[in-house]
Amino acid sequence: MPDLVIHPAKGPLTGSVPVPGDKSIAHRAILLAGLATGSSRVEGGALGEDNVSTLGALRAMGVNATESEGALVIEGVGLFGLKAPATPIDCGNSGTTMRLLSGVLAAQQFEATLVGDASLSRRPMNRVATPLRLRGARIEGKIDPKKPGEITAPIVIGPLPAPHELGPLEYEMPVASAQVKSALLLSGLWADGPTYVNEPLVSRDHSERMLRALGVPVTSVAAMVGLDPSGWARKLPAFTIHVPGDLSTAAFLLVAAQLVPGSRVDVRRVGLNPTRTGLLEILREMGGVFEVEAKGDELGEPIGDLHAGAAELTAVKTGGERVTRAIDEVPILCALAARARGTTEIADAAELRVKESDRIATMAHVLASFGVGVEERKDGLVIEGVPDRPLKAAIVESRGDHRVAMTAAVLGLCADGPTRVEDVGCIATSFPRFAGTLRALGAQVEIVPSRGEA
Ligand code: S3P
Repeated sequence: MPDLVIHPAKGPLTGSVPVPGDKSIAHRAILLAGLATGSSRVEGGALGEDNVSTLGALRAMGVNATESEGALVIEGVGLFGLKAPATPIDCGNSGTTMRLLSGVLAAQQFEATLVGDASLSRRPMNRVATPLRLRGARIEGKIDPKKPGEITAPIVIGPLPAPHELGPLEYEMPVASAQVKSALLLSGLWADGPTYVNEPLVSRDHSERMLRALGVPVTSVAAMVGLDPSGWARKLPAFTIHVPGDLSTAAFLLVAAQLVPGSRVDVRRVGLNPTRTGLLEILREMGGVFEVEAKGDELGEPIGDLHAGAAELTAVKTGGERVTRAIDEVPILCALAARARGTTEIADAAELRVKESDRIATMAHVLASFGVGVEERKDGLVIEGVPDRPLKAAIVESRGDHRVAMTAAVLGLCADGPTRVEDVGCIATSFPRFAGTLRALGAQVEIVPSRGEA
């Protein structure tokens, strides 16, 4: 796995750059295209490795997909056309692939095994297995020796026991999770009764929007979503989607622009779904410099252009539903906090402990490596901003987490010497062209062999 060396910014970051298509939306588009009847097109640029995992899973179950003129053409097999995979399905690093697929596989008449990399194999799967079992699914996992009662991958799902149809479900989710909510809604496509799911806070609603756009009777009232299939033809039409750019990925560029004096960075056609824009609100409160230009919508998803500049930032206290709507942006929010005047407090983010790494612990370690004062809390972080002098150049471990690796690189722009981010292969899960994009904006970034390999 290579490392990334990033030099302190010598001048402003400037330019207009693309970001990959939204990872969450692309997972759903690929999955629903595979289950639709006929040929769908998923456009929006090269896929990161996580989305490739979802595509690989569908191919393993008999879905044909080809690339044509930069778009993915997926030949949907229909809701009842998936075939048993010949070997375990590898979900790689992608929690969304594993959890969304669990909902689909729960309703199938065959058995399938889902495996993942070391990080994914540590992540909790009871959250999806428990409610799926409640509606009749057969789903088993590896018992986690460290957490009694928890299961992890490999997980084995199906075949669906007699009477071969999932039952209705009314479920109160203990934590807000779009992956779990989506798995339950997807399983509801085959169920013999309605699905009702209530979350403590509203998580991202891409599944609801896309299913609705495809004619599935999905309702949402506050944090309760429902899917009542009675009267629905159990058929998804083929579709074309131009996946909006990923706001979670654009966030690294947006923040880099705030932190490097004189910068002016534009990112075009980014998804602006309000269940994802928590970081924009927090950044606004911190005195961030950016404009949002609305540009219409795509299959129910609002999109727009982002124009960002350098800012003098002030610390913020944040938590609650705003943090749920910024859950993947907390690592890069830590970079803002590191350069803001005052003490930033981030609360209600305990879910970060079960992401690609324990992001509370990993970010505390990263910030400390840059000489930033940080306190780790059970559900968040307290960060002492260093706005007036460069950060201490650091050697930082990514711990295999793409968002941590990219955050460390952005912090490196503000350091007093070259920063080395170790083990950056993980960045390809969401932003394969990250280093090249920073370079296009004027940053000095090199990908180098890891010290062990050099
Ligand atoms: C995702 C949901 C979130 C998010 C993840 C993508 C999705 O996870 O962190 O990166 O696409 O549904 P949780 O559902 O675990 O909160």
